[in-house]
Amino acid sequence: MIRFENNVFLLSNDRLSYMMRVGEYGELQHIHFGGITYFEDASELSVKPGLGWGINSNFDEKLSLQYWPLEWSGSGRGDYRETPLELGEGMPTFFRYKSHLIHKGNVPFECSLPGAHGAEETLEIILEDNKKIGLHLFYSLYDTAVVRRAVLVNNTDKDINIRKIASSQMDLNGKFDMITFNGAWSKEMHMETVPVGRTGVMIESTTGNSSAFHNPGFILKRKNTTETDGVCYGFNLVYSGNHYERAQLSSEGLTRVIQGISPNNFSWTLKPGEKFETPEAVLSWSDKGLNGLSHNFHHFVTENIVPPYWKDRERPILFNSWEGCTFNFTERKLLSLAKEAKELGCEMFVLDDGWFGERNNSRAGLGDYNVNLKKLPNGLKGLSEKIRKMDLKFGLWFEPEAVNPNSDLYRAHPEWALGYQDDMNVLGRHEYLLDLEKQEVQDYIVENVAGIIDDNEIDYVKWDMNRNSIALGAKAHRCILGVYSVMRRIFGPRPQVLLENCASGGNRFDLGMLCFAPQTWGSDDTDPIERLDIQRGYSYLYPLSTVGAHVSMAPHAQTLRQTPLSTRGNVAFFGLLGYELDLAELSQVDKFEIKEQIEFYKTYRKVFQFGEYSRLYCENGISMQVAYGDTVIAGLFHKLINAAPDYEFLYPTGLKRNAFYTIVSRAQLLRVGDYGSLLKNVIPVSVRPDGLIVRLANRMYKMKENTEKWEASGSAIVSGLPLAQLYAGMGYSEELRMEGDFLSNIYVISMKEENE
Ligand code: GLA
Repeated sequence: MIRFENNVFLLSNDRLSYMMRVGEYGELQHIHFGGITYFEDASELSVKPGLGWGINSNFDEKLSLQYWPLEWSGSGRGDYRETPLELGEGMPTFFRYKSHLIHKGNVPFECSLPGAHGAEETLEIILEDNKKIGLHLFYSLYDTAVVRRAVLVNNTDKDINIRKIASSQMDLNGKFDMITFNGAWSKEMHMETVPVGRTGVMIESTTGNSSAFHNPGFILKRKNTTETDGVCYGFNLVYSGNHYERAQLSSEGLTRVIQGISPNNFSWTLKPGEKFETPEAVLSWSDKGLNGLSHNFHHFVTENIVPPYWKDRERPILFNSWEGCTFNFTERKLLSLAKEAKELGCEMFVLDDGWFGERNNSRAGLGDYNVNLKKLPNGLKGLSEKIRKMDLKFGLWFEPEAVNPNSDLYRAHPEWALGYQDDMNVLGRHEYLLDLEKQEVQDYIVENVAGIIDDNEIDYVKWDMNRNSIALGAKAHRCILGVYSVMRRIFGPRPQVLLENCASGGNRFDLGMLCFAPQTWGSDDTDPIERLDIQRGYSYLYPLSTVGAHVSMAPHAQTLRQTPLSTRGNVAFFGLLGYELDLAELSQVDKFEIKEQIEFYKTYRKVFQFGEYSRLYCENGISMQVAYGDTVIAGLFHKLINAAPDYEFLYPTGLKRNAFYTIVSRAQLLRVGDYGSLLKNVIPVSVRPDGLIVRLANRMYKMKENTEKWEASGSAIVSGLPLAQLYAGMGYSEELRMEGDFLSNIYVISMKEENE
């Protein structure tokens, strides 16, 4: 519901309210964002500047803009906090309320920017400055978020130069800590928490992508907010290009928050009559701690961001050829992998890089779409038909935004590469990016990718993008608009094609891409221990149904870490499960174990993919759960194990106090070979740990771990379920958890009966 009374705007549903007021001079003041409020609260919630603070520039005797929480600050009119808008060479601006409109549903963009969908109403507040520059602020209210954006309209008769324009600016009461998610290739989404002081905290990406360096999503929380309690605000941007976010404590103790396109090298000429549309900024709020905020974000992404076709459609368990084959494969090899994958229970076969042109390594072929007939003598059609006959879906990798200098495309059109005109081509992974602003480049990509999808009945596309851009400022923005246009043209008419976004892993994991691709490859780092932190980072802002997570080989390709297959599976369960390794190298025991993993995931797929995810309290490891209907699945993961361990407890959350539950740990396989010479303590005959018998037993012998079982009431379980003791140097026992370092367990909690 959106209403306007006595100069106050109120956007409100049964969880959230957003309130603003038109001030005496037409300035738009921010009053409240958070829990439900009413018109009567407006004056109660407004800050009270009293006589002010001395040195400020007063707009008139009474008002200094510096004191007020504002929805949009001007420049050169006495608000010395950061401005969301910089025009020309220091052109002053001050926008006054003119009128407003309440639209039904969403107001679509005129440019190709994507946006959230499913709003009942959108408020458009029209402001104008004394030079007749128009500023339209749009607000849509969703179940668990408010989405804002700004549109600048040049109603003057002269060009205007935009040097900086944010999507949203707001001033919140009081002080916060800011949680940001940073990293690099293969170490995405590492969380950092810093206090927001008078100097402020800034996040920025200038790589042309939303980037793995700094995700555009962030959180402001009060000092005393925890995972389960307290107030926090969450922010994100529906945008995949250069972005900028800043929070700064003002001299009077308000926190100004700015979100939008990065002003780095930005310069955009707005001609008379033209408008500039900024991307959407997402704002959410919770008083139920960080988990409460994550629930809000997850709900918003599922309901209002991902393409409606995939909203609650179960995602297939895929096998991907990359880590097992890289560029080296033949049709025979792929078919034997597909057959094996099918036997293990996979539902889709994805052919990754290497199927076209001279693509036998990363130095050649990008930009070309002719199938490599040496590797695939029967073409893609031959392969895809055979794969489909095995009752598998078929998916294909593309990297459409890039070109290798060694490609037919580059030889024909060197001028299509970014940087060509300035003689500034800079290679990254042996490739240039194509200039996606160019219509002919967009057409070339659409024709080729859409053609291949249609000719081969492709079910799934992995859309990769493996380098940062050299485009700056406005050019980078135009290129990302080009990417969106291309995606809309290809996938708009083909909603049933499952699109997985990838940029060397999570280098473009953002809400803009999620508007087209319901899922994104979380990281090229598939080491499960590293993935625990990466996937935990994503969990703050994005639901599990958006994060691709695969089981790969151990020792791991990037870390050389040897981890149990059980843990590799358990980590990937808390994401979209897939397998990415050479199945021909697996032992019988490995295959048996993978089959069981896949069966388990299929049984609980809805719970994992669409359940409510919470990070759990845990004393000695990392723990989380997903809850769907009457089923809760919890995971407990360890990094390094200690000798003489403490007791361990599992702390599930959200169970019904008056219900009875059964809790069962999932039985996992142990490997004889993992026990080395300790084996002599267990079996009566003497065997060499590196001898043939142990090696054979390791590959063939299924040694099942004991399962643990409990039956208890919800109110009892939340105070902690005592788990079987960890191995503590006392020999083998069925009563122990025997895995050692990197051990993990999964617990299925099912409601048995609910009392009145
Ligand atoms: C990127 C992706 C990988 C894989 C390779 C192929 O690194 O993130 O998953 O597709 O490209 O070249």
